[in-house]
Amino acid sequence: MSRYFKAEITENISLNKDYSLLTFHPLTSSIDPGPGQFYMIGCVSDGGGSPESPAFKYVYDPLLKRPFSLFRRTDKGFQVLYRIRGKGTAIIRDMRKGAVVDVLGPLGNSYPMPPENKTALVVAGGLGIASVFYLAEKIAGSGGSAHIHYGARTETDLLMVEDLRTIAGTLNISTDDGSCGEQGCVTDMLGDFLAQNQTAAAAGVIYACGPHRMLEAVSVIAKERGIEAYISAEERMACGIGACLGCVIKTVNGYKRVCKEGPVFRAEEIVW
Ligand SMILES: Cc1cc2nc3c(=O)[nH]c(=O)nc-3n(C[C@H](O)[C@H](O)[C@H](O)COP(=O)(O)OP(=O)(O)OC[C@H]3O[C@@H](n4cnc5c(N)ncnc54)[C@H](O)[C@@H]3O)c2cc1C
Ligand code: FES
Repeated sequence: MSRYFKAEITENISLNKDYSLLTFHPLTSSIDPGPGQFYMIGCVSDGGGSPESPAFKYVYDPLLKRPFSLFRRTDKGFQVLYRIRGKGTAIIRDMRKGAVVDVLGPLGNSYPMPPENKTALVVAGGLGIASVFYLAEKIAGSGGSAHIHYGARTETDLLMVEDLRTIAGTLNISTDDGSCGEQGCVTDMLGDFLAQNQTAAAAGVIYACGPHRMLEAVSVIAKERGIEAYISAEERMACGIGACLGCVIKTVNGYKRVCKEGPVFRAEEIVW
């Protein structure tokens, strides 16, 4: 089955001025995604014309699709949680219900589900929550529960918290400025949690997504405590399918393409 498909936008909800939640429904059959995989989404505008006009045409500018993690699946389609950064995401924010977009995916590898005797310790920094939410939801759906540590700069950068509460075993929140939850870094919160919960630490598997420095700190904590850890790396991408080598990162096993061999890597594999 092809990974290229056309999808209809079924919802595009603004969460606040910086973040939105897009839902798209494939118009043809598509491959089932795993947690941690991502989609390349075309940035399509209608060229300012009326869809009724014979001159109406969709405009693909920028030409390159943009990568977004699968946030979750709903009965309305696949969802991605996104931040408006530049031209592409501004166009995506303006895409209306009923618009048809080109999508490529699901791409990359997935987080492995935790073995039955292990506890998932999920760590998300900022938009990293977009990559790990579906994993936590799958764990909850299979009768397990994840300890989720979610940090952001400030309260308005904390997204979908109420939805997260419904799938988390425990949810610990931190913000850099103390506007919500504990004040400080999410990695400090993780360190404290592990110190106070020796059982979870001994039987834990860490899954993390967030800024590079956060992932590096998670990797140090995991190594010190001998905890298996998976991180999702993020690099700028052009093709998304392993052809352009634009997204390589250095690992102990040589350079690897984030879009093809990743985005999920064992933390110990990355050369920080
Ligand atoms: C595997 C993967 C999964 C991603 N998942 C999500 C997601 O779930 N939600 C989300 O909002 N974003 C996600 N991103 C980032 C997203 O792809 C970019 O924000 C988007 O491509 C920006 O497009 P733009 O045209 O709006 O910005 P551009 O005009 O291309 O760039 C605007 C600014 O954003 C910066 N920027 C662009 N891409 C990235 C990037 N990958 N990392 C850091 N800075 C970047 C640029 O340096 C520039 O300063 C993901 C990226 C990857 C590689
Ligand atoms: S984006 Fe082209 S190889 Fe990864």
